[in-house]
Amino acid sequence: MSDQFNPNSQEAKDIAYHFHPYTNPTALAKEGPMIIHKGKGVFVYDGDGKDYIEGLAGLWCASFGFSEAELVKAATKQMQELPYYHSFSAKTHNPAINLAEKLVKLAPDGLDKVFFCNSGSEANDTAIKMVWYYQAAIGKPEKHKIISRKRGYHGVTLAAASLTALDYVQKGFGLPLEFAKHTSSPHYFLDAKDGESEADFVARCMQELEELIAEEGADTIGAFIAEPVMGAGGAIVHPKGYFEALQPILKKHDILFIADEVICGFGRTGNMWGSDTYNLKPDILTCAKALSSAYLPISAVLVSQAVADGMSAQADKLGQFGHGYTYTGHPVPAAVALRTLELMEERDVLKHIQSVAPLFQTRIQALKKYDSVGDARGVGLIGGIEFVAKPNTRIKPNPAHKVGLKVMKMLQDAGVIIRALPLDGIAFCPPLIISSDEINIMFDRIESAMPAVDELVKNLD
Ligand SMILES: Cc1ncc(COP(=O)(O)O)c(C=O)c1O
Repeated sequence: MSDQFNPNSQEAKDIAYHFHPYTNPTALAKEGPMIIHKGKGVFVYDGDGKDYIEGLAGLWCASFGFSEAELVKAATKQMQELPYYHSFSAKTHNPAINLAEKLVKLAPDGLDKVFFCNSGSEANDTAIKMVWYYQAAIGKPEKHKIISRKRGYHGVTLAAASLTALDYVQKGFGLPLEFAKHTSSPHYFLDAKDGESEADFVARCMQELEELIAEEGADTIGAFIAEPVMGAGGAIVHPKGYFEALQPILKKHDILFIADEVICGFGRTGNMWGSDTYNLKPDILTCAKALSSAYLPISAVLVSQAVADGMSAQADKLGQFGHGYTYTGHPVPAAVALRTLELMEERDVLKHIQSVAPLFQTRIQALKKYDSVGDARGVGLIGGIEFVAKPNTRIKPNPAHKVGLKVMKMLQDAGVIIRALPLDGIAFCPPLIISSDEINIMFDRIESAMPAVDELVKNLD
């Protein structure tokens, strides 16, 4: 351990006892952790009282910021009434019933039943098991493979990590598992051929998908999973016409469509669902994060009546639906989630998002004026920029220089917490309650660091 920390300090204890997710333990031991002590609105504070705008809402999730008293009240009330009960063996409780009803009422048309889990990963693993269960129920057990897209992020549990098509999630774990197949990512900026139009790029993505389906055999493919906007893979907004071309291909081959709305759900793209923004018609939808404004862990899988009926028939045949978690539909997170959804309506959060999103997107686009920024993109209150080694090219900086991580640190020093992305970019995804003034503070702070970022990138080999 580095001797720069007093052995009795919280930093030293963290290094000694705490194994962190998505962290390099060697670097952590040398540099120490960043300890966040409190939050207020869109700001969080370190031990010295320095404030940071949480430009990623934590992990794309704290939609109401870090001090919403109504959510604390909802949790406290539920804790006092019934702090735990389960939903196995036909038991249930009011928070789970009321939240399921609310979600179905808010859901895109055609999603009629809800199953609760505790995280986005669990929701996606559950969705995959549901696909397998359903396909077996209707006499197609060989429809077992699931297609996801390169750069997609669907979580870290075994099945979800297999569908997540990012090296750093799979390397060292012997993943992906066999059932997962990956098709092209809709990343026009980086993956388009020189001179290729958006329309031609979309056509090529579709051709590659058709080729994969033909190679594997449509009768072996149960479902396709996609985020409406790719988050962790690079804040990637697909080109126009992409989902319009994709959905008929799935229909033609009798492949279920899973919309992974873990980031996009509950307003992020300017509508309640990414599926609303892009006119998606999923058979299954997974959501988490902003469902409870991340104040307590809860996620959900919404399924169509057809999938629910197939699963019910199979469960009846087998005696029960043999899947569920101790904390499925836990009453306290369910009560907080219900209050979160009520607050969205009471305060017309969607209208607020729509009113501030143009400023947010304008300020993202303005970052293109810096030499190191090759692409800037976004929708609603999500977006990102991607760094390039040379101005006006698509040449990426040498990955060994870890530009994204260095920029993350520089912006942190400037008072904004964001997340470095695998493509040497950074993502922006602030709490949905962010005001116009706070958007300006966030980007003013970012721009104060950008000349130094340009210098850094210019001087790399
Ligand atoms: C689109 C998407 N799906 C699934 C997940 C996994 O969620 P969790 O980390 O709650 O397991 C994430 C996490 O960031 C995500 O962004």
